[in-house]
Amino acid sequence: MPNVAVIGASRGIGLELVRQYAANGWRVYATTRTPDQPGELGKLRGDIRLHHLDVRSDTHIARFADAVSKVALDVLIHNAGVLNSRARASPEETAEAMRINAQAPIATVSALLDSVVASEQKTVALLSSIQASGRPRPSSPDLYGDSKGELNKRFRAIEPEWRARGITAIALHPGYVKTDMTGQHASITPAESVSGIRSLLNSISPAQSGRFLDYRGKDVAW
Ligand SMILES: NC(=O)c1ccc[n+]([C@@H]2O[C@H](COP(=O)([O-])OP(=O)(O)OC[C@H]3O[C@@H](n4cnc5c(N)ncnc54)[C@H](OP(=O)(O)O)[C@@H]3O)[C@@H](O)[C@H]2O)c1
Repeated sequence: MPNVAVIGASRGIGLELVRQYAANGWRVYATTRTPDQPGELGKLRGDIRLHHLDVRSDTHIARFADAVSKVALDVLIHNAGVLNSRARASPEETAEAMRINAQAPIATVSALLDSVVASEQKTVALLSSIQASGRPRPSSPDLYGDSKGELNKRFRAIEPEWRARGITAIALHPGYVKTDMTGQHASITPAESVSGIRSLLNSISPAQSGRFLDYRGKDVAW
């Protein structure tokens, strides 16, 4: 069966990705900041291997890349992200959001690239957000949207290199999903979002690499 890696799997969309892929017989490499207290992640059934990874740590990223260096990762999903909706974020908060939402996805995928290239499907998805559309926008800053916009900018710059190695990579909006990040007033459940994401990633073609798609496969405006 194929292998999938889910970066940031402890809660929300990441946890549901692990649940659904494992239930469908995939081997899942799931990363969490708290492998000793995995919570719901530890209760899931299937071929699930937990790894310790805080995406702010270059050491953790390198250690995980080393741990899966002999594994062919068919699908790699960078899901970890943080919401900071404060109108005026401090410089420290801004740096933290940029680190986790914009820098870490590119750094993590870059470190894992050889494992993806070694696989059959060679698919990468970076969890972005529709709030990135039209951002960064310095005239009316919104830290979350700007950090995801910065991710999109970095993704578009590096994606041709990944594509040249045979990888199909997309920026992905998961929908407005009921999780700790959004609350229960959001529109869809993690199960609905992840069903769409799985079906999109299962049927994606190399011609779609470099696009910004939502969980139903529809284009999102950059
Ligand atoms: N929910 C939505 O409607 C929505 C919409 C658009 C985009 N997204 C994006 O989708 C992704 C998942 O969102 P969600 O709604 O599932 O959020 P969530 O419930 O808040 O979960 C966030 C996940 O990211 C992990 N994470 C945060 N900081 C991390 C770090 N430094 N290192 C490693 N893992 C870290 C968390 O781990 P801990 O448990 O250790 O904190 C958790 O597993 C995010 O990138 C988010 O921006 C969500």
